[in-house]
Amino acid sequence: MIVKEIADGIYFMGAMHWDRRLFDELIPLPDGTSYNAYLIKDEKIALIDTVDPSKRDELLESLDEMNVQRIDYIVSHHTEQDHSGAIPDILEKYKEAKVIASKLGKELLKEHLLIPEEKIIAVEDGQNISLGKRSLQFISAPWVHWPETVLSYLREDKILFTCDLFGSHLATSRIYADENPRIYESAKRYYAEIMMPFRNKIKKYLERLEQMEIKMIAPSHGPIYRKPEDIFKAYENWVSDKVKKEVIVAYVSMHGSIEVMVRHFIKALEENGLPYKLFNLTVTDIGESAMALVDASTLVLATPTVLTGMHPLALYAFYLANALNPKTKFVSMIVSYGWGGKVIEQAKSMFKLKAELIEPVIARGYPKEKDFDALNALARKIAEKHKEKGIE
Ligand SMILES: Cc1cc2nc3c(=O)[nH]c(=O)nc-3n(C[C@H](O)[C@H](O)[C@H](O)COP(=O)(O)O)c2cc1C
Ligand SMILES: [Fe+2]
Ligand SMILES: [Fe+2]
Repeated sequence: MIVKEIADGIYFMGAMHWDRRLFDELIPLPDGTSYNAYLIKDEKIALIDTVDPSKRDELLESLDEMNVQRIDYIVSHHTEQDHSGAIPDILEKYKEAKVIASKLGKELLKEHLLIPEEKIIAVEDGQNISLGKRSLQFISAPWVHWPETVLSYLREDKILFTCDLFGSHLATSRIYADENPRIYESAKRYYAEIMMPFRNKIKKYLERLEQMEIKMIAPSHGPIYRKPEDIFKAYENWVSDKVKKEVIVAYVSMHGSIEVMVRHFIKALEENGLPYKLFNLTVTDIGESAMALVDASTLVLATPTVLTGMHPLALYAFYLANALNPKTKFVSMIVSYGWGGKVIEQAKSMFKLKAELIEPVIARGYPKEKDFDALNALARKIAEKHKEKGIE
């Protein structure tokens, strides 16, 4: 665990999980992750979040090394176990400690971590808890990304503790964002995978946070921001309705027909001045494609028909794209079949995005002249739509 004093009496306690490669059994972690707790030493001693249960010993040992004899409060911003998982261990060791959470957080802590009711103090939005010379103010922020989430603001030091919000899955010995050159890539990936479905809520929270005087943003994954305005700006851009001219082409092909169509299609995109990103779904890291969805204008999914529906990999990608709720403006498909199927009906029944559907290209077997013409027409149509909407 990396322990560093980030302000007078305030310590970053980050458990680096360098070799974790999957989060929530879903999200690839190319750069590992960290679970950051923070310790505030005042008249009262507060521990802000804990760590994943796999790192509990590191946290307990570090508290020993820091000679922490007493903890008064454990702030639980969010009940997900990567932050709350070691609360029972802390309570076991520091008998006098009380957990602070939102009202719903209290219920979830009882359900998920079996923490007794009397150990938990529920706080309201705007409520202050004094630590002595300093006080913590709680800011209710439901749905980033669970409904119970709160943030906390150490008023005197102007540090905002944000738990998952503004986090990044990045194990690093450099605890400040400005020391990590690729930080905005990590932060964008994190936003895409965890926060994007809640972008409209985050928009409102951003407006509120930007009114506050903040010197440091201290998330519970990844590095600390000493220049809050930079990460605010990045988030403003991601949560805004503005898209960039870019076509995501995600495809799978069993015997090459879709592959030939996709190769032709990307050439047609190029001829129409449309930048694109190509993802072969058999090898793509879903985090990469989620990141592309943060601000791309267009998604084209290309799939063969398999047992009447989409290829399962295309179905998975389509399901995720819908669930992540990106701001994509246009969606279309390229479909290959042998004798019949219901790919388009299936796609329409699943489709939840606010994007405009552009007529798909459907071809039987190996693509023929008319299919290539249809692909050219699709690329032209996408280019026209961009012009109509003024997307540059
Ligand atoms: C396992 C499997 C299942 C298939 N199921 C269907 C189907 O239900 N309906 C259909 O029209 N074609 C079906 N096909 C045919 C493919 O959709 C067709 O060959 C298509 O052109 C394959 O595209 P690809 O070469 O890009 O893989 C199936 C093919 C395979 C290998
Ligand atoms: Fe979480
Ligand atoms: Fe988390």
